Amino acid sequence: MFVQEVTKWYQINRRTLPWRNTNDAYIIWLSEIILQQTRVEQGLPYFYKFQERFKTVKEFALASEDEVLKLWQGLGYYSRARNMHATAKAVMEKHHGVFPTRYEQLLQLKGIGEYTAAAISSFSANEPHAVVDGNVYRLLSRFFGISTPIDSTQGRKQFKELAYELLKEAQPAEYNQAIMEFGAIQCKPASPNCAECPLSVNCVAFIEGIVNTLPIKTKK
Ligand code: ADE
Repeated sequence: MFVQEVTKWYQINRRTLPWRNTNDAYIIWLSEIILQQTRVEQGLPYFYKFQERFKTVKEFALASEDEVLKLWQGLGYYSRARNMHATAKAVMEKHHGVFPTRYEQLLQLKGIGEYTAAAISSFSANEPHAVVDGNVYRLLSRFFGISTPIDSTQGRKQFKELAYELLKEAQPAEYNQAIMEFGAIQCKPASPNCAECPLSVNCVAFIEGIVNTLPIKTKK
């Protein structure tokens, strides 16, 4: 039910974004690192700039760190740019310039954690790894009425297990995009659009009138 509804909603409401409709792991990596802690509208011009300047991971690896940091100027969290440069070089040295698509290989690269490895491996190779980002925590906690804090060890484990369980019924590449997009556009942090939400009939938070109290965080 949940998976089908979220996927159906996505097929109708998805935004056209330049890193969708590609399975090129390099392009997906560029977009995912740029979009960490960054809104799509803010990240888009940077994505175009990087894609244009570095058409391949090889071009990226051969650039000077200075140039990479200059292109990054204004986005913040500069460790992302430095890690990207290190990763581009590592892909040249350890993967013959072919950006890896496997989750376990991706986790070895600088700046790529569980979320980013799941995103790249599912979008590029349809690997069944669940993306669990802020959008996913919010949507799952509301729909399933889970009040375990999302920033606790127990919460992270519980949400990850649920996300992997749901993924079993899904097409990983499409569904992972769908659940994040649903969280970003439909199940927004403040004033979510419950009046027009296809999940509201079964949403525990909506039924109990606690949408605005979920998800719960221990630290503010
Ligand atoms: N934020 C992080 N990854 C994203 C993606 N693939 N599409 C839209 N927003 C995102």
